[in-house]
Amino acid sequence: MDHTYVRLEEAKAEAQPTQQQPLSWRRRGRQLGLTTLAAVCVTAITVFFCGACPEGLQRLVLAKNDGPVAFQPPTIPLLMLDPYFQVHMMAEKATDDVTRGWYSDMREMQGMIRVDGTSYRFLGACTVNSDDCPAPMEQVSVDIGTVRTDFVFHDPQGRVELRVTYMGTPYTDDEELFARPVGYVVHDVESLDGNDHDVQLYLDASAEHATFEADDVVEWDGWEQSGLKGIRVGTVAQQFLHRHGDKVNLDWGFLHLAAQPSAVDSEHKDAEGTHQPLTIVRGGGALDNRADFISTGHVSRTPDQGNPRPCGEGAEEDKTIISVSQDMQTVNEAKRHVVLVAYDDVYAVKYYGHKLKGFWREKYNSIQEAMGDAIKETDAMMAKGAAHDASEVEKLTKAGGAEYAAVTRIAYRQTMAALKLVWNEDLGTTWMFLKEISTNGDMNTVDVVYPASPALLYHNPMLLQKLLVPMLSFANNETSMEYSKPFSPHELGVYPVADHGTKAQEPMPMENTGNMFFMILAILQRSQDHAWVEPYYPMLKTWADYLNSTLPFPEHQLCTDDFRGPLGNNTNLAAKGIVALEAFAEICHTLDRADCAAYSTAAVHHAEVWTALARETVPMPHTRLAYGDEGSFSIVYNLLWQRLLQLGAKPFANYDDLAAEEVRFYLSIANAYGTPMDSRDHMVKTDWLSWAAAMAEEKADFERLFHGIFRFFNESTVRVPLSDFYNTVTAGPILHGFRDRPVIGALYAKMLLHSTEGEAK
Ligand SMILES: *[C@@H]1O[C@H](CO)[C@@H](O)[C@H](O)[C@H]1NC(C)=O
Ligand SMILES: *[C@@H]1O[C@H](CO)[C@@H](O)[C@H](O)[C@H]1NC(C)=O
Ligand SMILES: *[C@@H]1O[C@H](CO)[C@@H](O)[C@H](O)[C@H]1NC(C)=O
Ligand SMILES: *[C@@H]1O[C@H](CO)[C@@H](O)[C@H](O)[C@H]1NC(C)=O
Repeated sequence: MDHTYVRLEEAKAEAQPTQQQPLSWRRRGRQLGLTTLAAVCVTAITVFFCGACPEGLQRLVLAKNDGPVAFQPPTIPLLMLDPYFQVHMMAEKATDDVTRGWYSDMREMQGMIRVDGTSYRFLGACTVNSDDCPAPMEQVSVDIGTVRTDFVFHDPQGRVELRVTYMGTPYTDDEELFARPVGYVVHDVESLDGNDHDVQLYLDASAEHATFEADDVVEWDGWEQSGLKGIRVGTVAQQFLHRHGDKVNLDWGFLHLAAQPSAVDSEHKDAEGTHQPLTIVRGGGALDNRADFISTGHVSRTPDQGNPRPCGEGAEEDKTIISVSQDMQTVNEAKRHVVLVAYDDVYAVKYYGHKLKGFWREKYNSIQEAMGDAIKETDAMMAKGAAHDASEVEKLTKAGGAEYAAVTRIAYRQTMAALKLVWNEDLGTTWMFLKEISTNGDMNTVDVVYPASPALLYHNPMLLQKLLVPMLSFANNETSMEYSKPFSPHELGVYPVADHGTKAQEPMPMENTGNMFFMILAILQRSQDHAWVEPYYPMLKTWADYLNSTLPFPEHQLCTDDFRGPLGNNTNLAAKGIVALEAFAEICHTLDRADCAAYSTAAVHHAEVWTALARETVPMPHTRLAYGDEGSFSIVYNLLWQRLLQLGAKPFANYDDLAAEEVRFYLSIANAYGTPMDSRDHMVKTDWLSWAAAMAEEKADFERLFHGIFRFFNESTVRVPLSDFYNTVTAGPILHGFRDRPVIGALYAKMLLHSTEGEAK
C-alpha cells in the first residue's frame, strides 16, 4: 500500500463524502479560491444531482440468472481501457452528472440525440448555460456487465428508443484484445411509435483525457483511414513518461474518436444542394460545438480557428473537445451508429530506463489500424461481450449466489482496467504492469498484486506470471538498480515509471515474501511451463530461509494493512508466513530441488506453535490479533491459501476444524455491513472479508458473510468506484483513498475454490 501509513484516527478525520468535492479540485484549486470552488460544486449538485431526486432511485437489475437482485452500484463504469483511461458515471443516471475519472475528476464525455429537431442528452450533464441545456433522455434501464454497460433510453415524448452500449475488450484469453486500447460506444435507435423520425447523434470527449493541467496546450487533427473518419487530440508538448504519480494523468499520447461514414456520405447533399456529409468530426471549444449540434443537428464543417488552445476545465470554461456528429436521417426500424474511443499512449511504461510500448503496438503500426480492426469486429465484439457477461454471471451465481455475482461482475472490469500489457522487445515477450490506484499509485505492488491475483489465476494464470516476472527480475539484480534484502521487494516504482531500488521500498518482509510464494506456486500448479522460475530459485530459497528464521514469531513489522502501523506477533501475518513456507516446499518439489521436506517440517512445527498461542476459546473458539493478546480477535484470511493451494493437511493439520470455527465466529460478530477485520474497530477490507467468507464450507455461510459486502456497495452513498475499505457499522465514509483498486480481484477466490474443488454445496 502507500508509503506513509496513516493512523486510523487521522484517516477517519480526513474521510469526507467524496462526491461533494467533484469539480476537479486538483487543477481548479490552483486557480480558484476554495470558496469559489465550493460555490461551483453546490451549483452543480443542485442543478444536476437533485434534479433527479424527486423521481426516486432507479434500481439496476444486475444479476438476472438467479432471480433478479436489485443492486445499485456506487458508480456506473462506462469505458475502462487501462489505468489512465477510465470513465465513470458517478450517479444513478447517465445524465445526472458529468462523466468522471476514478478520483472524481471531470473527464467529460457528452452524448446527445436530436429527434425531429429537438435535442436531448443521453450522456453527461451540462456544465455551462443550463438554460440551453438539452433535457435528458428518460433512462429506462442500465445493465452493467463484466465488459459491457448497456443503457436503454426513451425520449420524453415516447417517439424513439435509444440503446447505448459502452464496451471494452478486456478478454483474458486473448492478449491482443486485452491490450487493444479501443472502446466502443454503440448506439442503436428505433422508432417506438411506428412513425418515421428524423434523428441525429452527437458524442464528444474532452481533452481532459489527454492532459494533466487545465492550461496544457492541446491540438487536434482530423484523419481518414481504415474506412474511418476520425479525430485526435493531445498536448503539443508530448513529453512521454515524464510524470508519475497517483492522482496524476498522462499528458502524452492522443485521444481518438472515430466513426465509419455511411456509404452515401460523400454524395449526400442538403436541401440547398450543397454537399453535407452525414458523419462529421470536429475539434475545438465545447460551447460552440454543442450549440451547433443542438441548433442544426450536426457539428459545423468550418474548423475552429483556435487550434492549438489550452485544454481548459471546470464548469464555466469552454474546454477543448473532439466530437463526432452523425445524421441517421429517417429512423423507423433499428439503425446502428458506432463511435470508437481510443487512447494511443505511444509509450506505456518505463522499466529501469527502458521505455516499453503497449502490446497492441506489436500488431498494429498505428492506432488507426487497431481501430480499423475494431470497427470490422463490432458485431462480433457485441456478441462476445454479451456472451462473456452472461457466462460469467452464471458461473458467479452458481458458486456464490446472486449478490456475489452482482458485485463481482463489476469487480472484473475494475481489476482488468488497472493492468497494462506491454511488449518487452529485448525478451520478445509480453509483460504486465499494475497501478495501485488511489493508494499512492505504486507499480506492481506485491501486496496489491496478491489480493488481485485470484481474478487472474481464475481467468488466465499466465497473466499473473507476466506481472510477477518484472518484479522477480528487479529483485534478482537484473536491472540498473540493486536490491539487497533477503526478502521480497514491495514495489517497482510509482506507475508508470519503475525505478525504485532497495532504499525506496516500503518493507513488508513476511507479507510480500509469503505473497510471492503463494502466487508462484499457484501459477506452477496451473501450467506445464516451469522454466521461467528456474533462474530465481536460488533467490527464492534465500527468502524461504529468511522466513523460517523469523517464524513462528514475526517481528514488529508492517503487513499489507499498513494503515494500522506495524505489529509484532501478528497472527494473520504469521499464518501467511507458515503456509508460505509449505508453499515454498511445494515449489522446491515442483522444480525437483533437494531438501524440500525440511521446509515442510519447519512449517508444520511453526503451525503447532501458532495454534498454541494464537487461539482463544472464550466466548467461542477464534483467533487473537497477536499471540497472547487476550480478548482480541482478527480474521485470519491468509489461512485460506492452504486450501486455495490444495496443500491438504499441511501445515495446519486441523485446517478444516480451524476454518469451521473461524467462520462460525465471523458470523457471530457480523455487523450490518459485515464482519470487522479485527478487534481494534469496525473497519474491514472488502478483499479480506471476501476471503474470510470463502473459508466457509457451506455456500449458505459464504452468502451470509458476503451479504455485508453487497449491502455496503448497494447502500453506500459515497459514489466512488468499488472501495475495499469501509466501516461495517455505518457503511462509511471510507477513507479518501481505497477506491477503484485492483485488489477487488480478490473476490474471485471463491471461484478458484469452486473450479478446483467442484460444485459448492
Ligand atoms: C438495494 O438497496 C435498495 C435501496 O436502496 C433496496 O431497495 C434493495 O432491495 C437492495 N437490494 C437488496 C438485494 O437488498
Ligand atoms: C543483489 O546485489 C546486492 C548488492 O550487491 C546483494 O546484497 C544481493 O544479495 C544481490 N541479490 C541477489 C539475488 O543476488
Ligand atoms: C512475540 O511473542 C514471543 C513469545 O511470547 C515473545 O518472546 C516475543 O518478544 C514477541 N515478539 C514481539 C515483537 O512482540
Ligand atoms: C527452520 O528453522 C528452524 C529453527 O526455528 C531450524 O531448526 C530448521 O532447521 C530450519 N529449517 C530449514 C529448512 O532451514
